[in-house]
Amino acid sequence: MSPVILAARDIDYVYPGNVQALQGLSLDIEQGRKLAVLGPNGSGKTTLLLHLNGTLKPRRGEILLDGRPAAYDRRSLNIWRSRVGLVLQEPDDQLFSASVYQDISFGPLNQGLSAAEARERVRLALAALHIKPLAERATHMLSFGQKKRVAIAGILAMRPEVLILDEPTAGLDAQGVAQLLTVLEEQRRAGATLVFATHDMDLAYTWADVVAVFCDGRVLRQGETVAVLSDRELLQAARLKMPWLLEVAQALGELEQPPRSQEALLELLRQSHSSPVTVQTPLPDPPPQGGRELLQNSYLAYSPSPCGRGLEGGG
Ligand SMILES: Nc1ncnc2c1ncn2[C@@H]1O[C@H](COP(=O)(O)OP(=O)(O)OP(=O)(O)O)[C@@H](O)[C@H]1O
Ligand SMILES: [Mg+2]
Repeated sequence: MSPVILAARDIDYVYPGNVQALQGLSLDIEQGRKLAVLGPNGSGKTTLLLHLNGTLKPRRGEILLDGRPAAYDRRSLNIWRSRVGLVLQEPDDQLFSASVYQDISFGPLNQGLSAAEARERVRLALAALHIKPLAERATHMLSFGQKKRVAIAGILAMRPEVLILDEPTAGLDAQGVAQLLTVLEEQRRAGATLVFATHDMDLAYTWADVVAVFCDGRVLRQGETVAVLSDRELLQAARLKMPWLLEVAQALGELEQPPRSQEALLELLRQSHSSPVTVQTPLPDPPPQGGRELLQNSYLAYSPSPCGRGLEGGG
């Protein structure tokens, strides 16, 4: 197990109006790993993420940073937020500067970097999120997906050790999702820890190392992705759907090492089709004497393998 960089210990949180959002919630975030936070609407995902960078303070319990209880004075919060970056679910809640360039440069400048260093951070973040042409645009005039990219770029430019993203792919087009995943993978390779809340079970399955399943303000189960997402009862209890790759793997009886990507599934299907098939039913009566071709054909007819293509090619 990797060291735990950030943890929630038995936290409760109650919003005004007596809405109990978290109750006795505990969660470990391991350094350098990708954690997906899953759960139905209103299960407390966003509320927990807001605790992980000190935006909210638990009513009971504590947040541990490097194993020590986090402090909430201004100086400690500044250091905390420099180390732990949070991309909010709604980009409108995050963007406040007039232009995209200003918004992305705010974090690095606030961290005390020089103007030249901040410019370089902004340049790299704009390139990573493929939004260079938006640099001089007014933030409030952008589309939802563009705002989302700018919000992510702003946090990325601060180079946090832990990057937390609330529904990062919601509202992004297919290319935007692929580009975001590439950026996040680069961050992880550079040593960052990634936490993301998502409703996309397929993304969580293919991408996360570990997952935490939330329900009613609690973590029902946290652990390795395949083990947790294979637990059908748990998913039902949390009103979540099993990822389609796992559904197929279970239907194929491939429970030990289910494929983690579409490519891996296709490879598995190719292999299973090219291996000899054990025929359980009795073979038909032998073909008429001298019918060599017929004999060949009748045995090939038992094989669903691509080797059957020999029939078409005449070889
Ligand atoms: N500002 C608020 N004031 C009062 N109640 C709130 C507030 N924000 C959230 N809640 C309530 O807290 C609970 C948890 O909400 P939260 O936003 O953390 O859920 P979530 O899992 O992120 O949901 P979603 O999947 O819809 O984003 C819900 O019952 C919600 O109605
Ligand atoms: Mg939410």
